[in-house]
Amino acid sequence: MQTTLILIKPDAIQRGLSGEILSRIERKGLKITALKMIRVTPDLARKHYAEHLEKPFYPALEQYITSSPVIALVAAGPDAVSVIRLMVGPTSGLLAPAGTIRGDFSTSNRLNLIHASDSEKSAEREIAVFFNPSEILDYSFTIAEWLG
Ligand code: PPS
Repeated sequence: MQTTLILIKPDAIQRGLSGEILSRIERKGLKITALKMIRVTPDLARKHYAEHLEKPFYPALEQYITSSPVIALVAAGPDAVSVIRLMVGPTSGLLAPAGTIRGDFSTSNRLNLIHASDSEKSAEREIAVFFNPSEILDYSFTIAEWLG
């Protein structure tokens, strides 16, 4: 079992795609163990995107992620980090294959709808940026035996 951090980004909320994205996560069989809608502050953006602070695109990234609310969630499941990354697709919606979230709904590398942690180490760090341990719920799916 792995856990990963997902952000449904401002453009997804504004475009009414949060239900579609949450539905894909649920239908895959991943378990949502924490979820909240928040407005990302510049301070929170700097913590979350710490590895990109020096990149030329960082100011545009911060402006975007703070521009409107996001939905932050933790998803759990077998190989959850790579499973979600495959469902999300590569950074640019122009290059993301059809069938992925970005491939189906985005034509941008900035307005790309969703963030998903890129490794178990990043997931651990990013989950702690967005959630207190008490906000993460420990429960079992009653249909677990049907999910593999
Ligand atoms: S890198 O340099 O390869 O590590 O960057 P990448 O993984 O492609 O992207 C990291 C996050 O930065 C966002 N991004 C951008 N934002 C604004 N403008 C530009 N030009 C831009 N290029 C990349 C990208 O959407 C990634 O966000 P997350 O939330 O991590 O997917």
